[in-house]
Amino acid sequence: MIKLLMLSVMWAACSAMPTKNNEATCGYESCHPVKEGMINVHIVAHTHDDVGWLKTVDQYYYGSKSSIQKAGVQYILDSVTDALKKNPDRRFIYVETAFFWKWWMNQPDHIKHQFKRYVNSGQLEFIGGAWSMNDEATTHYQSIIDQFTWGLRKLNETFGSCGRPKLGWQIDPFGHSREMASIFAQLGFDGLLLGRIDYQDKGNRFKTRTPEVVWKGSDNLGEAAHLFTGVMYNTYSPPSGFCFDILCEDEPIIDDVHSPDYNVDKRVESFLGNARDMAEFYTTDNVLITMGGDFTYMDAETWFKNMDKIISYANLRQANGSQFNLIYSTPSCYVKAVHDEAEKKGMKWKTKSDDYFPYASDPHSFWTGYFTSRPTIKRFERIGNNFLQVCKQLYSLADLGPEDQVDLNALRQAMGVMQHHDAVTGTEKEHVAHDYARILTEGIKECEIITSAALNKLIKNQSSEDVDIKFSSCPLANVSSCSFTENTETFTVTVYNPLSRPVNHYVRFPILGEAYRITDDAGVQIETQLVPIASSVLSIPGRKSEATMDLVFRASEIPPLGFKSYYVESVKKEEVTAPKMNEDDYTGVKLEIDQTTGLIASVTMNNITVSLTQQYLYYEGYIGNNEIFVNRSSGAYIFRPRNNEPIAASNRANYTIHRGNLVTEIHQKFNDWISQVVRMYKEENVIEFDWVVGPLPSEDTFGKEVINRFQTDLSTNATFYTDSNGREILKRVRNFRPTWKLDLEEPVSGNYYPVTSKILMRDTVRNIEVAVLTDRAQGGSSLHDGELELMVHRNCLHDDAFGVGEALNEKAFGAGLVAKGSHYLMVGNISSDGYSLAAAERDLAQRKLLQAWTFFSPAEKQSIEDYKRKFAMNYSGLRKSLPKNVQILTLEPWIGTSLLLRLEHVLEKDEDSTLSQPAIVNLKALFTPFEVTSIRETTLGANQWLSENSRLQFATEDVNFERNPRYIVVNAEDEFEIRLNPMQIRTFIVDVVRK
Ligand SMILES: *[C@@H]1O[C@H](CO)[C@@H](O)[C@H](O)[C@H]1NC(C)=O
Ligand SMILES: *[C@@H]1O[C@H](CO)[C@@H](O)[C@H](O)[C@H]1NC(C)=O
Ligand SMILES: [Zn+2]
Repeated sequence: MIKLLMLSVMWAACSAMPTKNNEATCGYESCHPVKEGMINVHIVAHTHDDVGWLKTVDQYYYGSKSSIQKAGVQYILDSVTDALKKNPDRRFIYVETAFFWKWWMNQPDHIKHQFKRYVNSGQLEFIGGAWSMNDEATTHYQSIIDQFTWGLRKLNETFGSCGRPKLGWQIDPFGHSREMASIFAQLGFDGLLLGRIDYQDKGNRFKTRTPEVVWKGSDNLGEAAHLFTGVMYNTYSPPSGFCFDILCEDEPIIDDVHSPDYNVDKRVESFLGNARDMAEFYTTDNVLITMGGDFTYMDAETWFKNMDKIISYANLRQANGSQFNLIYSTPSCYVKAVHDEAEKKGMKWKTKSDDYFPYASDPHSFWTGYFTSRPTIKRFERIGNNFLQVCKQLYSLADLGPEDQVDLNALRQAMGVMQHHDAVTGTEKEHVAHDYARILTEGIKECEIITSAALNKLIKNQSSEDVDIKFSSCPLANVSSCSFTENTETFTVTVYNPLSRPVNHYVRFPILGEAYRITDDAGVQIETQLVPIASSVLSIPGRKSEATMDLVFRASEIPPLGFKSYYVESVKKEEVTAPKMNEDDYTGVKLEIDQTTGLIASVTMNNITVSLTQQYLYYEGYIGNNEIFVNRSSGAYIFRPRNNEPIAASNRANYTIHRGNLVTEIHQKFNDWISQVVRMYKEENVIEFDWVVGPLPSEDTFGKEVINRFQTDLSTNATFYTDSNGREILKRVRNFRPTWKLDLEEPVSGNYYPVTSKILMRDTVRNIEVAVLTDRAQGGSSLHDGELELMVHRNCLHDDAFGVGEALNEKAFGAGLVAKGSHYLMVGNISSDGYSLAAAERDLAQRKLLQAWTFFSPAEKQSIEDYKRKFAMNYSGLRKSLPKNVQILTLEPWIGTSLLLRLEHVLEKDEDSTLSQPAIVNLKALFTPFEVTSIRETTLGANQWLSENSRLQFATEDVNFERNPRYIVVNAEDEFEIRLNPMQIRTFIVDVVRK
């Protein structure tokens, strides 16, 4: 009783503390003060709300399907809103804007007001703030930036600067990329806290008291990409015994001294014991204790009531000499306290320049399987990005009016959901994967309405009738199925180029006619080629088309952010009069095939010949009961092969060669479930491997994890390179980690790294580089010198016991899933005097990421002359191409009539002697449909003016780190002139005047 009385007295004292009601005191100002000389224990109340995993996004939000998992996000936010009222000292953080926004839209005004007060007083703080907590291995930087921009915009619009997150909070993603650190720094954030890093790395960091470092996020951007980064003690879980929730069974704090169950002393002692242990490993007098977990706080009061007591009883001990000071805190208050103390004491932080991949949680659990899991979702996500950019650009160019709040947002939000660490990763349950596909499909459909409306606006002139043309896509053209092109005699093909320079693009679609005549915008008949569709494609389950031939033509010089239309007529063979080019007129790309095995024996490109064999192999997945580490199964997260040497799917391939005037193809069949088309296009310095893998046999005892392996005679000295989220390149050394002495029991999966867009190797003596680009995220490695391998598809017949609770054995159309995709092989000199191979790789990567988009529209009963009179067949959104090293990363409708514009320099500083130089772009008269009248630079997320952002500075041990000055827009001559350094991204909100 007495204790209870004291408690209420203390609360009264706390609420008497100045809480300015009308004035916002959010941010660092609202942090509870720390006590110098004590161990300050920052208690962080949080919930981790997966945007889909075992249940769909909606099932999690509403709390349905409790039999799968007891989790309802709406109840969490309701319940936290009530609990914060009861004690103004309480703090809570919220992270996933996808859920927050769904909840917010459904709240009555009085709840909104109340919630805003919490945000303004710092009681409720947004952390991270993106639409979802994105994965870092399988995601592309363009989509990461987009999903932050969208989440942060909602927060800024709703709460202003108090809703602006200051910290990255990546507590559950399975390893961490360096590019993500760079992105957080460019978002203007002060730091990043991580939950999961390799168990050996973690042990070593704790032993050496370096769980907190300054991460150098970029080889190119210098200090602008430095980020304070901390690894948390217990991922994001509460100390054992301190989970107070309807989801847990831990004992509450019982503080009635007359109760036989009175436990305050014991419980406080145990809690402080934890803090004491932690303090051993961290260098300042601050420790952070995460109080929460997956979908916790559905009954927030159970947590807060007990935390209130722990805090007050623990702090009472200070009177008796206790050195612990417990406060409700947030991750940013923690980082601020760490920063201030370090600054006061003149501490210097260690730095880190590599990344946190791969992630292992025990000696046999390398989380490298998810780099490849669900390969078709991974590809669909990339297509979603491609179309989202096309959609946003066309919206902006055609001026569809003030931003529509519905249509465009569906795909923006779908892509935000897809970035989640259980979405594109492939670590969700099968029914959830289907729901993600549904969400993405809906978003794409909404954008099709936009692109059609925009194109209509752009093509019409005065003599156009007011009839709308329907522009549709052929989503199944990747399996050579398209009912439009198969069943229409006369139509137009409009090819839109989302890149900022002209591109050539080979258009391909299935047809049923015997010949086609294609006329371009200049009235010239252009070359076509009919290519037989590979038999393995014809038999893909679910394919409904009758077509056995694809029509191919080259759309050349499609203008930047523009299109060209082609008039296509089905005709008799003899009516085609377009000139046939010489079939040998290829750019010197050559393949040699071993006649006895049917496998590739060598390739020649850029004047270099390398002996190279390429084939498909598979690992069998380990199956165990998961009860001890050594019994870990290969599964959705984990890659664990039974044997270190893969098994060849076949040592030979049957093949046919189809030569042509535009493209030459070799159709190879390795076995019943693996085949490929090797393709060389005229005037393309690359060899394309278009693989079809599946249905993977699943009647065997073991799952199959299929790799495409390129074997060469290059001497690579155990070294290879992979990209980080599609951007900077990181060096990888086999059986080695840059920051600790590796003890490796899984020599295959422990050498797998995420390949978001590219893997490459170099023979520095022969000056040869071999690179393979991908069309989606995959796992890859170089397990022997001169070799590259990429995992393309996998099925696992057993769960790996990390929660998903299902074997990864995807089905489609009543059979095992068939995955189809492409690898692009490039060979050349590492360094050369002219255009470098690295620059060529960057160019190709962009042309694949933002591929020219093909729209089809009917043109029955219209001659080309009719069509041309009425409609523009050639359009450029830019008056002038941008330099080859600059790309418009973002062009989208923004608030009111403004636009959001991002420019990026697409090369690193050492990649090309010319193109790695800084670039200059003048924005004023750059665009065709409008003139830029004012620009204002923001942080990367567009939620803060750049000039108003200042980040906490953390002193590092390196004496001479580069200071990379921010380039200020204002330029005496011309404020519209933008300078970009290698790998720099600059973000602007621009006002325009339409012409
Ligand atoms: C290839 O090498 C030959 C002879 O050294 C040279 O004439 C030619 O220009 C080179 N071609 C290319 C594409 O570099
Ligand atoms: C943030 O939102 C406010 C309105 O709440 C708006 O006035 C401001 O321009 C936004 N900031 C940026 C950088 O967009
Ligand atoms: Zn999670």
